[in-house]
Amino acid sequence: LQDKKYQMRNKIAAGNWKMNLTFAEAKTLNQSILDHQIPQDVKVILGSPFPYLAQLCELSKNNDKVFVAAQDCSAHGKGAYTGETAAQMLQSIGVDYVILGHSERRQYHKESDTLILEKIHQAQSQDLGVIYCCGEALEIREAGNHVAHVKSQLSESILKLDAAAISKIVIAYEPVWAIGTGKTASPEQAQEMHHEIRNTVAAQYGDEVANGISILYGGSVKPANAKEIFGQADVDGGLVGGASLKSEDFGEIIQSF
Ligand code: 13P
Repeated sequence: LQDKKYQMRNKIAAGNWKMNLTFAEAKTLNQSILDHQIPQDVKVILGSPFPYLAQLCELSKNNDKVFVAAQDCSAHGKGAYTGETAAQMLQSIGVDYVILGHSERRQYHKESDTLILEKIHQAQSQDLGVIYCCGEALEIREAGNHVAHVKSQLSESILKLDAAAISKIVIAYEPVWAIGTGKTASPEQAQEMHHEIRNTVAAQYGDEVANGISILYGGSVKPANAKEIFGQADVDGGLVGGASLKSEDFGEIIQSF
């Protein structure tokens, strides 16, 4: 299981449950995904609220296609940081991944790329996989600065890692204007940005590293649009919010590769 976390260039259907679901609902949803026929070459990641992680890890531990993610971790190792959760704590209960730099954390908790990079270091020091989120707000896209914006997010964070460390990162491109709005980036818009991201990684680390990285699209992914988006050359899967809360919808998305 541990090794599978870092396999090169996977097809990934990741759910981000955000701050939703009761414990009972989370267990039911988790079980229905475990019972789902997941295609051979697809990996599923469930991003659960903190209180449910230990139980979900226990439930999922014998399934080699379903992985559990936390939605954040502390930039600190341990100590007097009330309310924070250390990467080591997540590791100690069997969490596989942590989602870092989500736009909601950037927006509501003022997270900078510098802070996000510190969190990445913590997560990687505990052998957690990282799903690093980037993406532009609507004004930035309308001004035509979306590519430059995302590149600057990358250069302030994951492009500061060495080749071995960046090879273990899953990147999620989530245009902020498409999150929870029902507005999806067109397949062409997603492909354009994913291609730019991969080229940016290639320019610094070479083609082998860049071609090994999984880049997910996030923003109003649903059964009706998943296939077309996942079909783009540089789109390796999705990070799904709302539609990951319904087992039928998420089940269909898992089949959309
Ligand atoms: P929605 O799928 O609800 O738009 O959320 C996307 C997201 O933010 C996933 O992290």
